[in-house]
Amino acid sequence: MPTHPGIKAGIIGFGRMGEMYLLQMLKSTQWQILAICDTDPDALAVAAHIAPPGTKLTAHEDDIFNDPDITVVVLSTLADSRKRHLFKAVAHHKHIVTEKPLGSTIQEEYDVLEKISGNSILVTVNLPLRTAWYHKTIREFIDSGEIGDLAIVRICHMTPGLAPGEGHWAEGPLFHDCGLHYVDIAHWYAQSDFKTWNAQAIRMWEYHEPWWLQAHGTFENGIVFDITQGHVYGQLAKDLIHNGYVDLIGTKGIARMTHDFVTATVELHGITKTQTIRKPFGDKNLDILLDLFAESVIRGTLDPSLPKVKDAVIASEYAWKFLEDAARHDMPVRGDSKTLEEIRERRNNKRIGYGLLRKKNKFNE
Ligand SMILES: NC(=O)c1ccc[n+]([C@@H]2O[C@H](COP(=O)([O-])OP(=O)(O)OC[C@H]3O[C@@H](n4cnc5c(N)ncnc54)[C@H](O)[C@@H]3O)[C@@H](O)[C@H]2O)c1
Repeated sequence: MPTHPGIKAGIIGFGRMGEMYLLQMLKSTQWQILAICDTDPDALAVAAHIAPPGTKLTAHEDDIFNDPDITVVVLSTLADSRKRHLFKAVAHHKHIVTEKPLGSTIQEEYDVLEKISGNSILVTVNLPLRTAWYHKTIREFIDSGEIGDLAIVRICHMTPGLAPGEGHWAEGPLFHDCGLHYVDIAHWYAQSDFKTWNAQAIRMWEYHEPWWLQAHGTFENGIVFDITQGHVYGQLAKDLIHNGYVDLIGTKGIARMTHDFVTATVELHGITKTQTIRKPFGDKNLDILLDLFAESVIRGTLDPSLPKVKDAVIASEYAWKFLEDAARHDMPVRGDSKTLEEIRERRNNKRIGYGLLRKKNKFNE
């Protein structure tokens, strides 16, 4: 039984992520959803089918910010309205769970960081890798000294996911929209600032932005990293597959993880023990994020394991820097727009693919 009444919440932006937040909140006794806002009537129609009776469904964000009963607001629109929403959250003293990125430009994100700093509202950002069991397990193993000193951080995330032009136009190129998660987790493992980097990218199917990027470099503490990210992994293959791993190489041992979006496998090869752990992948880990945030609101202080605004801004900043570096180098083009049309057709009309957006989105080229 809950020891307190549910925390009253509103959601702004009821697309793919907004729906995930609602479904997760409905599973928990910690939350009570009061209102959902989306500017698209189709999205509100979907919400009407899922939300409990009595939930206010509105196209006006101020219906949520002005509601004195709402304590927590979830921000899951695209990035172009994030800064405005976060500024309103400060003005109306609402605690916030927000999607990344925190603005559609890095300057907007710095503005958000400055606005939030020193303010008493609690804000966490959905950087789900930070709360994933497999990364926490590996970090504990590293901290126990089993692999010696961490020296090399290798991260790869290649899927047949979001196709060029399909959506998320406000979040920047793919390495910013999705890649920032991997920039963030490399930073989290190294526990040090990025020092140097080189990046190589490729433009696929004649799209104007790179859709695969690899960056490598160093951290201030001497750890080196490589990050490979792209939604270029066999979109038209008969059977879809992907390649996601981390590889943490120490001076004495290693720890690594692979997953298939269903199960994650962690392999620990330390100086005194060898262990393999297989558990459900956990996907976006919204259950962990929302549980920890609910506890934080009740306690009045943010749980230290929850991602902070500054973490998200650093990840975003370096994702942009790696994209800028890639743009200074040769950036070849492979594939043509006809293939891209086939990919979009398969994903949007036949609904085959990873990370499909709920609704058909406008292409923006
Ligand atoms: N943290 C993660 O792992 C993760 C994963 C996927 C997406 N995201 C982020 O989540 C956000 C949403 O992504 P999505 O896939 O749900 O997109 P989506 O396009 O499915 O949903 C966005 C919704 O916001 C609505 N919207 C846009 N502007 C609005 C406004 N001003 N007021 C109210 N509603 C508005 C749209 O109508 C749409 O329904 C993006 O910023 C994306 O970067 C994060």
